[in-house]
Amino acid sequence: MKQVETLNSPVWWQRIQYITNPVGYWKSAYQTHSDAFWAKGIDFGTPLLVFYTPEAAQQIIENRHGHLSTTTFESELKAIFGDSSFFTLEGTSHLQARKLLIPMLHGKHIRSYGQLICDLVNDVLDSVPIDRPFSVLDVAQDISMQVMINLLFGSYQEERYQEIKHLMFEMVNLFASNIAGIPLFFRFLQRDLGAMSPWKKFLKQRQQMKEIIYGEIADRRDHADQNRTDILTLLMSVTDEQGNTLTDDELMGQVLSLLFTGNESTAASMSWLWYNVYRDAEIKAKLLAELNSLELSSDPLNIVRLPYLSAVCNETLRMYPVTMFMIPRMVKSVTEIMGYRVDPGTLITVGTYVVHHREDIYPEPNVFKPQRFLDHNFSPYQFLPFGGGLRGCIGGEIALYLLKLSVAIAVSHHSLKLVNQHPINPQRRNTILTPMGLKIIKNIA
Ligand code: HEM
Repeated sequence: MKQVETLNSPVWWQRIQYITNPVGYWKSAYQTHSDAFWAKGIDFGTPLLVFYTPEAAQQIIENRHGHLSTTTFESELKAIFGDSSFFTLEGTSHLQARKLLIPMLHGKHIRSYGQLICDLVNDVLDSVPIDRPFSVLDVAQDISMQVMINLLFGSYQEERYQEIKHLMFEMVNLFASNIAGIPLFFRFLQRDLGAMSPWKKFLKQRQQMKEIIYGEIADRRDHADQNRTDILTLLMSVTDEQGNTLTDDELMGQVLSLLFTGNESTAASMSWLWYNVYRDAEIKAKLLAELNSLELSSDPLNIVRLPYLSAVCNETLRMYPVTMFMIPRMVKSVTEIMGYRVDPGTLITVGTYVVHHREDIYPEPNVFKPQRFLDHNFSPYQFLPFGGGLRGCIGGEIALYLLKLSVAIAVSHHSLKLVNQHPINPQRRNTILTPMGLKIIKNIA
């Protein structure tokens, strides 16, 4: 059986490369090893084996023989969300959490968010000053965070929810900074090194967040409202076989992990989408023509179903799969993937970034071509921005809603222009690939 290879460079150098130039890291892995490699630059506390062929992706996603399981791992996510988040659940409790939340994020339930998303995008873009460049990522985060807060708490305007929004941004920004965020990647720095140290700052923010969310939970316990249909209400109503409800700490872990995951990946994808639309006049014109073919008062659902808009969105998610790789799975018993023996105790994943840039699947992978999604149906193992299987994204449907409606509203109701003259290089922010420095300017329509 074949042996999976590792990169030749020292581990500390691989780690720096992954932090500072993640795309370069993936490219050099693929150039050196065509199917898989040991990703020693990514620290999950256990070595990580990355596969990047559709065949391996299928095996990992389908997990037909049950060789793989969800697992808790020592990662930066644990530092943020504590021990009771979605990412630290295993086995049955993980499956139960998925079963509970998936209906809240699909079908009829999220369709009711269509108009809210359109209104929010309009409000946020109306508030942007004219002729002053703005950060697309900041605007995208604002939009997606308000939608996420709505999903979780049922409203976003109240002062407490606005506080949650600001605090969440502060925490995320702290970790996103390449300097202050370093403790996240080097566990020995995850301790209190004085009042100004990033870790201490983070602990303070986490404590503030805890107080706000605990306050919200206590209020809801005191004044139960049967008409609420938000995710926190649902989580608070769950009981196990012994009749126990989730503790305040568990509730907070769930809320924070959903807020963080949902917001960061959606905001980054939305920014890439706007980048791709506003940098190419032809794409923007085609999109506008397709949107103009709809009636003015059209249901947001009709917008979401438009084929060219969908193709532009898919091509964005292909070229810039913001999470870069799927959540690692733990190997429970000896298995074979693509002729490689994989031992129990190994963490394995699919390198989505590499799969999406394989020349054999996507000719000219570095060229943005929405047409390829109109001409061809890619399998769920060739195109997998939301992963799949055991840990497949539960928020994909609402994320697509947000992406499509945001760009549709921006293009059809606002006069915006890209400021950047040169192509933007993807950079890592937390665990997400973002178009850092992307700026757009609003003109008078
Ligand atoms: C464009 C936006 C988004 C992208 C690209 C994205 C991508 C992903 C990916 C790749 C995974 C890992 C899948 C796997 O390992 O198989 C994931 C997991 C997850 N996503 Fe998303 N996501 C997005 C938006 C959202 C939203 C809006 C939410 C919440 C409302 C969300 C909640 C989650 C959760 C909870 C998990 C973990 C699932 C589990 O552990 O079982 N995501 N996402």
